[in-house]
Amino acid sequence: MNILVTGGAGYIGSHTVKMLNKMGKNVVVYDNLVKGHRAAVKCPNFVEGDIFDSEKLEWTIKNYNIDSVVHFAAYSLVGESMEKPQMYYYNNVQGTLNLLDVMLKNNVKKLVFSSTAAVYGEPERVPITEDISKNPTNVYGKTKLIMENAMEDYSRSYGLKYIALRYFNACGADVEGDIGEDHSPETHLIPLVLQTCLGKRESIKIFGDDYNTKDGTCVRDYIHVNDLAEAHILALEALYEGRDSNVYNLGNGNGFTVKEIIEAAEEVTGINIKKEIAPRRAGDPAVLIASSDKIKRELNWNPKFTDIKKIIETAWRWHKNHPNGYGDK
Ligand code: UFG
Repeated sequence: MNILVTGGAGYIGSHTVKMLNKMGKNVVVYDNLVKGHRAAVKCPNFVEGDIFDSEKLEWTIKNYNIDSVVHFAAYSLVGESMEKPQMYYYNNVQGTLNLLDVMLKNNVKKLVFSSTAAVYGEPERVPITEDISKNPTNVYGKTKLIMENAMEDYSRSYGLKYIALRYFNACGADVEGDIGEDHSPETHLIPLVLQTCLGKRESIKIFGDDYNTKDGTCVRDYIHVNDLAEAHILALEALYEGRDSNVYNLGNGNGFTVKEIIEAAEEVTGINIKKEIAPRRAGDPAVLIASSDKIKRELNWNPKFTDIKKIIETAWRWHKNHPNGYGDK
């Protein structure tokens, strides 16, 4: 296996790269460092490059004898995607189409693709299985769904073999504490709550407490980043075994409200967090809970972090020791 990881300096990418490298796999990270961090790359091979730079991509594929790609490089903020759709369609759709062109030209036909629970929109039922209708409520989810559809067509016409992984809410950090979550701007609930614990923010805003849920706040399915990383490795192995293209959800199957997450963080940190009720955020579905039975059944995926406090503990260790993240942005 010679694996190219685009976006391997980002949050989920860097955790996957570290795990692949530890397993002794040949990994090359390809990242333009616009969002990613050089210090997050825990493998020897790094190419600073953009997915629009066809020549550099082709050089990387040839130079490292690449035979599969894990494609993380994308913009992934729901709110931002509503304000800047052009940026999201350009990067996530056109950029990925360009990557696919270069892959096919060089006969690289195995791809693990980062998709998202945002493809479902307001789900017709929970827990969400892969087959329910997809009506994304935000541009980010739309861009990922467009690419899933394109890959399905490429799979049929050009022999591309892909596995799309629909992540629910990625969170936590590697237990060794050397890599973690560092977005700028940060918009995700758990890092914002922990930054509030560190006194870096005045308070945490709860976006809406009038949803039809047990305490009125949104319910999400929080999944540890290393459990996600493991799923990518299983997906790669499945492709090398010659399995067909497929799509899988990745979540814990448990839902937590925003208020429950804040309470769990208070227990883990021992710090009382100041909360404010704020208006709903555009594009937020009320409840997103995954059924991950399909990937458990077909690829033997077995998430190890099932306790939300244990998950938050790993994130807390990272944030406490890296209050400014990687310190490069
Ligand atoms: N939230 C707050 N206050 C904040 C930040 C978030 O109340 O300051 C709430 C949100 O409204 C939401 C929940 O906390 O109800 C989780 O929000 P995040 O921003 O952490 O995550 P999202 O659920 O919006 O999105 C994440 C990923 C997406 C992915 C989605 C799938 O960022 O890429 O999970 O479930 F599509």
